[in-house]
Amino acid sequence: MKKLIALMLSAMLMLMSFSAVAAEKLVVGTNAEFPPFEYIGDDGTIQGFDADLIAAIMGKIGQEFEMNNMEFGSLVFALQNGQLDMVIAGMTISEERKQYVIFSDPYFEATQKILVQEGSATKAAQDITADMTIGVQEGTTGDMYATDNLPAKVERYNKALDAVLDLKNGRLDAVMVDAAPSEYLAKNVGGVVVLEENLSEEQYGIAMKKEDTQLQEKVNVALKELVESGEYDALYAKYFSVIESEAK
Ligand code: ARG
Repeated sequence: MKKLIALMLSAMLMLMSFSAVAAEKLVVGTNAEFPPFEYIGDDGTIQGFDADLIAAIMGKIGQEFEMNNMEFGSLVFALQNGQLDMVIAGMTISEERKQYVIFSDPYFEATQKILVQEGSATKAAQDITADMTIGVQEGTTGDMYATDNLPAKVERYNKALDAVLDLKNGRLDAVMVDAAPSEYLAKNVGGVVVLEENLSEEQYGIAMKKEDTQLQEKVNVALKELVESGEYDALYAKYFSVIESEAK
């Protein structure tokens, strides 16, 4: 009998540790349509500032993970329904999103920018009129800004790149995207420029499930260590040629 109990106990323990191991690998969601934060590299893997940052954070925490690429507009919901454990996607910390998820401390400062065709008469947001059409990536803060603050018709795309291509083709009058991706997209597509004006003040954070406050704490500690050790600055220099101290 004792033997049986011992056997059952060890079987239970094995099962428990097995499920603990299985649950250990966290699933991190992103939308790899946002260079230089996340994009699909030549080898087909997800690369970029965010990909490197999350790898460094997970390394510090000692946590295995895998990346899952999905539509930006699905990320918050996928966290809520348990399909994802974390999201790193150049995601702006907002009060609206905080209703559904929690965020790490901010890791990047961002702003919205307007792109137009080279030589366009549109030089700033105030030149945008009701007869114009502006492209955005669906569900982004650029989408919200354009919808709430600009008179133009808003055209929503799955990928910011497709919006910029339509701008080049003349199907759109303008595009609104975060600053750093704007520069990347403009350079890659050509024939379009990024206007000077900064239209918002935003900060990116890593999103987690509401109940994962312990994970949030670990992520914040790791983030802090990466900043203090200079690893964050090295990463910044890898993707952005000039180190601006406020870009943290
Ligand atoms: N910062 C913006 C937002 O949070 C855009 C982020 C888009 N990110 C992406 N990986 N596509 O809404």
